[in-house]
Amino acid sequence: MAKPKKSQDMMSLLVALCKRRGIVFPSSEIYGGVGSTYDYGPYGVEMKNNIAKLWWNEMTLNHDNIVGLDSAVILHPKVWESSGHLKNFTDPMVDCKSCKARFKADDVDLRPEKSVCPRCGNRDTFTEVRQFNMMFKTNIGPVESEGSTGYFRPETAQGIYLDWKLVQETARLKLPFGIAQIGKAFRNEITPGNFIFRTREFEQMEMQFFVKPGESAKWMDYWRERRVGWLHSLGVRKEKIRWHQHPADKLAHYAREAWDIEYEFPFGWNEIEGIHDRTDFDLMAHQEGSGKDMTWFEPETKERFLPHIVETSAGLNRTMLVVLCDAYREDEQAGEKRVYLSLDPRIAPIKAAVLPLVKKDGLAELAKSLADDLRGKWQIFLDIQGSIGRRYRRMDELGTPFALTLDYQTKDDNTVTVRMRDTLAQERIGMDRVGAFLHDKLSPEA
Ligand code: GAP
Repeated sequence: MAKPKKSQDMMSLLVALCKRRGIVFPSSEIYGGVGSTYDYGPYGVEMKNNIAKLWWNEMTLNHDNIVGLDSAVILHPKVWESSGHLKNFTDPMVDCKSCKARFKADDVDLRPEKSVCPRCGNRDTFTEVRQFNMMFKTNIGPVESEGSTGYFRPETAQGIYLDWKLVQETARLKLPFGIAQIGKAFRNEITPGNFIFRTREFEQMEMQFFVKPGESAKWMDYWRERRVGWLHSLGVRKEKIRWHQHPADKLAHYAREAWDIEYEFPFGWNEIEGIHDRTDFDLMAHQEGSGKDMTWFEPETKERFLPHIVETSAGLNRTMLVVLCDAYREDEQAGEKRVYLSLDPRIAPIKAAVLPLVKKDGLAELAKSLADDLRGKWQIFLDIQGSIGRRYRRMDELGTPFALTLDYQTKDDNTVTVRMRDTLAQERIGMDRVGAFLHDKLSPEA
């Protein structure tokens, strides 16, 4: 389906900015790239880490009953048999008989009178729909045999289910409680694309909340409100966010109820995060698959039961794309186009730029000593060379919220000018107050 030109323009401008400014690069580019695989450059990795830290703090620091876990990527192969992923983690797929391109069946019109291949334009050319399993296979150990097949996890959740009793015992938790995890997941997507929106290797930020049977609805409401509130707290515009409930015939094999938080990307409304009622499906599956008791004994009521699970599952890379799309701005300054990222200062990769107006007359040395004082607490960029206008533009494109400019007055009274990225307002403050200023503006820190 042709995308509106404006949206394509906005995405290509963003993709170009990310490469130009060291945020996200196409991976393996010197070999021609691997297709929809990306590397996070020096400023992208800072941004991604800041978002992950904000999520981690929201989920763990802000709750006395949620703890973290970092489980393995390659789990026992039987995990995926029990969890239903080997059988059900599939996408319906069709091939174009003319040009051999492959599509998700949901992305093309299969009605014979309407069916056109988006790649070659031929009509009525698709194969029958087949199910394609998205699990990435690998070989565990030095000898490749049928019994050595393993899988890269397609979701981080399963590692949490396997360990839930160990976590509960060691952290001495009582229902309801949660286990949070951030980590890589892998899916052999049929049609990855839209920059870092859908890739085959990505990171998830997932939290599994264990509750008593019958209490899921209450906790689904709680977590839906809480998760959307978190996105608002990052400054994502409210009108760009909406809910989508999965209809019964589109639910994942493990879910009884599922809601997506969607964002209006330049290429349309799409999912960022899912809130799922997974019932006791997963614990029951692993109890049956492993033969081990996965139940919980409640001392107060002397009851034994399998807890139910409410899951919040967000993509870290996708959240970063939301933040980038939402922050992308253009305006005009002195007749010239200015591009800037209006990022929450906690997410911005560089917190402040230190810029001497000129390099000479001791200003560069003064700037260096200010930057050295601030470094260690925050990511600071010292930029000495070139026209001040060009230096400001570079920092605007990276979303640096504050530029600290040193000029001749600095030498007289030890003050600097703080330039605010979005409004371009300027404020003069003492050099000895810069640390306190940044501390105020960046609290609570990522
Ligand atoms: N544990 C449940 C689960 O994995 P999901 O809806 O399949 O649910 C959750 O995935 C989130 O993971 C999505 O909302 C999205 O943000 C992210 N995600 C899924 N597939 C992705 C992909 N191929 N590339 C980037 N992010 C992806």
